[in-house]
Amino acid sequence: MRVYQLPKGGAGIDALAIVERPMPKPLYRQVLVKVAACSLNFRDYGIVHGGYRMPVRENLIPLSDGAGEVVETGPGVSRVKAGDKVAGCFFQRWPAGEPGPLVHASALGGSIDGVLAEYAVLEEDGVVKLPQHLSLDEGATLPCAAVTAWHAMFHHAKLIAGQTVLLQGTGGVSIFGLQFARAMGINAIITSSSDEKLQHAKMLGAAAGINYKTTPDWEKAAIEANGGRGVDHVLEVGGKDTLTKSFGAIRVNGKVSIIGGLSGGARELNPGLIFSKRANVQGISVGSMETFEQMNAAIAANKIKPVIDRVFGFDEVKAALQHIGAGAHFGKIVVKVG
Ligand SMILES: NC(=O)c1ccc[n+]([C@@H]2O[C@H](COP(=O)([O-])OP(=O)(O)OC[C@H]3O[C@@H](n4cnc5c(N)ncnc54)[C@H](OP(=O)(O)O)[C@@H]3O)[C@@H](O)[C@H]2O)c1
Repeated sequence: MRVYQLPKGGAGIDALAIVERPMPKPLYRQVLVKVAACSLNFRDYGIVHGGYRMPVRENLIPLSDGAGEVVETGPGVSRVKAGDKVAGCFFQRWPAGEPGPLVHASALGGSIDGVLAEYAVLEEDGVVKLPQHLSLDEGATLPCAAVTAWHAMFHHAKLIAGQTVLLQGTGGVSIFGLQFARAMGINAIITSSSDEKLQHAKMLGAAAGINYKTTPDWEKAAIEANGGRGVDHVLEVGGKDTLTKSFGAIRVNGKVSIIGGLSGGARELNPGLIFSKRANVQGISVGSMETFEQMNAAIAANKIKPVIDRVFGFDEVKAALQHIGAGAHFGKIVVKVG
């Protein structure tokens, strides 16, 4: 089978090569998936270019996010069968509850081989069935960005209808956050570097949009847009340029989910900010298989369609990575495999 291979983390886009590998065989409680589509996350760009802070194995098959059809099951498999349309879970060994200490050692497309391949062997508890209204391209967008947004909003922040979430930028995590907010009756305030993207976000249901380039004090603008009250929750994906302002945007007792570092990893935080706002802060690591299934139930009930910016062919992976690196996208970037 054909796979993409990266010799080592940080080797750069030009080091990515298509190579032949033997067809993998599913062992006990594993399934063989014929991959139809993958999607890109900011993390994948970081892994290829360097700067990703978790372990990356050598000769890696990149990408955590993929969807396809189960074509073979190993002994002991009962959750899925041949013919089922599934997506892989970001962590192959986090079925439910609190993550174990070794969960990061099971991260697809980082610690272990990912899904940018014609076939992938995944753990039985490392796949979920897709909502029926989704295509495989759409299903491939869910494992990392969508599960992360869902986990932060409904497991950490426990948002309820009528509350307000602040979303940063118009990438994968934030646009799923916007779609979930819309479905659940939560007000979404979103920031972007582009007025055009803000218009698009408003068409998707954002209550307010703030350009963080032309309004550097966007945390004050967010409070104003929320009727003078701090927001209930922030999906903090910006990192060093946004972290302090995120605490400025929340109400007393508000919540900040620490997710990413789009502007670079933040190195300092004044504890006075947490203290003065009595803030509730939690780091998010994507989510478990169970969280993925709960999210899929809501996606199915609300017929949510992931927002796909652009679809690339299997031979166009380098262009797809350059596209995410340029930050011009809105929502998710897909690579067709099968
Ligand atoms: N902890 C976890 O489990 C987890 C899971 C998923 C993602 N992440 C992290 O979360 C971050 C977002 O990931 P993603 O895949 O959604 O990224 P993405 O799709 O690549 O999002 C990129 C967008 O973010 C916006 N952005 C860039 N710099 C910004 C800044 N300083 N302030 C506000 N927005 C900014 C830009 O939007 P505009 O063009 O609209 O300005 C850009 O287009 C990354 O750091 C990623 O590694 C972490």
